[in-house]
Amino acid sequence: MRNRLRPLTAVLFLFLLIIVGCTDMSRTHPAAPPPAAPGSTVALPAPRLDSPMSVEQALHQRRSVRTYQDVPLTVDELSQLLWAAQGITHPSGWRTAASAGGLYPLELLAVVGRVDGVEAGIYRYSPADHSLTQIQTGDQRAALSEAALAQESVAQGAVVLALAGVYERSSGRYGERAPQYVHMEVGIAYQNVHLQAVALGLGTVFIGAFHDDQVQSILGLTDEERPFCLMPVGRP
Ligand SMILES: Cc1cc2nc3c(=O)[nH]c(=O)nc-3n(C[C@H](O)[C@H](O)[C@H](O)COP(=O)(O)O)c2cc1C
Repeated sequence: MRNRLRPLTAVLFLFLLIIVGCTDMSRTHPAAPPPAAPGSTVALPAPRLDSPMSVEQALHQRRSVRTYQDVPLTVDELSQLLWAAQGITHPSGWRTAASAGGLYPLELLAVVGRVDGVEAGIYRYSPADHSLTQIQTGDQRAALSEAALAQESVAQGAVVLALAGVYERSSGRYGERAPQYVHMEVGIAYQNVHLQAVALGLGTVFIGAFHDDQVQSILGLTDEERPFCLMPVGRP
């Protein structure tokens, strides 16, 4: 009887060890964000409206940066970059970036790899309430980099912002000129992000070389949402 109890005691002891081990693991990662289900919303901190760096200094220092340290961005930095691209700056809904007829044909997404307090995944930016809505869980930077001809900057950026455009939002008013206008708006939003990144001491680059269909699929875009620009951002 005593001999039969020994293996049972050993199993119980092992079970206890596993439970204690798991409890300790959760204690050593207090900052890990709780896993968010797709569809969950991340309220972003309000953007700051001043900076120690002048626009002239940011313009002078702007350079394409393609290698980054393997360190996370803060949620404040992510918030500031998204706001620079498409944030609302007027009660009428006007944004940081100009838009032909105020029709706003751009969609802004964030492929989050390492941002403190934000779970890795793909998010859509909502200018109306300055928030992110998760549409995909897990770190998708490697897949995105492959779709961008294996460009390392895309895999390395702590976050990769993506701009997509919907011609149909502008074509009702501008007809055949709509694609031209949408492309111009991508350039305007990108430049805002680049100058903001410089002012934050961060690096970025315009990535235009990628397989449209693959990027469209990874980002979960609709057929009408055409991807135009990826912007990996990290600490130089
Ligand atoms: C439309 C466009 C597409 C670009 N595509 C890429 C790209 O796919 N990969 C990349 O590393 N740089 C890309 N660049 C960045 C240019 O290579 C870069 O702006 C150029 O070398 C000048 O350097 P600078 O930005 O530091 O002044 C692109 C720039 C533009 C405007």
